[in-house]
Amino acid sequence: MIVLGIDTSCDDTCVAVLEVRGSRFDVRSNIVSSQIKVHKKYGGIFPTLAKREHKKNLPIVFKNAIREAKIKENQIDLVSVTIGPGLEPCLWVGINFAKDLAKKSNIPIVPVNHIEAHILINFFLIPPSNFLLPSICLVVSGGHTQLILMEKIGNYKLIGETRDDAAGECFDKVARLLELGYPGGPAIERFSKLDVRSSKLEVKLPRPMIKQKNYDFSFAGLKTAVLYDFLKRPEKIRKSKEYKILVAKEVQQAVIDVLILKTIRAAKEFGARSIILGGGVVANEELRKQFIENSKHQIPNSKLLMPPKELCTDNGLMIAVCGYFNREKATKDFDKIVAEPNLRI
Ligand code: KG4
Ligand code: ZN
Repeated sequence: MIVLGIDTSCDDTCVAVLEVRGSRFDVRSNIVSSQIKVHKKYGGIFPTLAKREHKKNLPIVFKNAIREAKIKENQIDLVSVTIGPGLEPCLWVGINFAKDLAKKSNIPIVPVNHIEAHILINFFLIPPSNFLLPSICLVVSGGHTQLILMEKIGNYKLIGETRDDAAGECFDKVARLLELGYPGGPAIERFSKLDVRSSKLEVKLPRPMIKQKNYDFSFAGLKTAVLYDFLKRPEKIRKSKEYKILVAKEVQQAVIDVLILKTIRAAKEFGARSIILGGGVVANEELRKQFIENSKHQIPNSKLLMPPKELCTDNGLMIAVCGYFNREKATKDFDKIVAEPNLRI
C-alpha cells in the first residue's frame, strides 16, 4: 500500500511517500521545503505569507516526492493530510490539494491530527506493541507542550499542557531578544554548546511550575525572566557573546529540567511502560541525552522512544505513518474534511 503524507500546518511544506508491506514500512521519499528564509527577516511566522509560500511550493514538493519515490500519481492508495492543529489558512492549502488529488484518482483521504502524528512517528522504527503501553507521551514543539497518556493507538488522554507559551516558542522568543538567529531552538542549542567556563557572569532562571503537583507547564514566565535579566544588564554585557551563551545554556536547562521532571513523574503515576517523545524541541541534543540518563535511573522498567532528530521537526512521513494507523477513518466524503486550527487530541 502506498500512503501519501501532506503537512502544511505551519511554516514547512512537507510531502512524503510511504510504502507499507505487511508490517514493514519503507520511506520512498520525505521532502520538507522550509520557509526559514522567508520568515527570517521578520523573526517569526506570518500566516498569510506562509499560506502564499505553501501554495507556491506544494505542487513542486509533491512532484519531487513522487519522482524521488519512483511512483506514478495513480499508484497512491491513500492520502493523509493534516487538518489541525495549525494555522488555518496554511492547513487549507494542504487539505485542498489533497482533495483535488483524491478526487482525480478516486482514492480516500484520512484526516490527521498533527499532535498524534508527532507521537506515532515513533512507531515507524519500532512497531507498536502492548509491551509499550500504556505510554506517557510528551509533545513539545513551537506550538505545543502537552503530556498525553496513551492507553492504545487512538485512545489518548491529555493530562497536562502549557498554560501559555510552548517550550519551542520560548526558545524562539528568547533567541529573538538576544539576536541569536531564527529559528530560535537550533540557535539556542548552538550557543549553549559554546564554552564560558572562565566567565564571571552568572545567569539564574526559574523552573516554572516545577513544584506544582499537576502536569501543566508555563514558559511565558521563563521568557519574561530572561527579559528582566536582560534589561538589568549594561548594554555592553547584553551584547556580549559570553552573556548570550550563558542565557542560552540556562534557558535550555530550565526547559529540560521541567519537562523531564513532569514527564517522569507522570510515567511513575500512570505505570507507563514507555515514554514517547515528539515535536521539534526533541531534536535538542542536550534534552535527548538528559532524558536518556534520567529515565534509565529513575524508571528503568520503562522504555524511552524518540524519533531520530530529522523526524522530530515537522515532516510528511509522520503524517503518512499516522494516516496509515488511522486508515479506518479514511473517507471519500470530502466535504467533511475541513481545517480545524484548534483540533485537540
Ligand atoms: O514540531 P515543529 O517542527 O513545529 C511545530 O509543530 O511547532 O517544532 C518547531 C519548534 C520551534 O520552536 C523550534 O525552535 C524548535 O522546535 N526546535 C528546537 C530545535 N530544533 C527545532 N528547539 C530546541 N533545540 C533544537 N535543536
Ligand atoms: Zn509539529
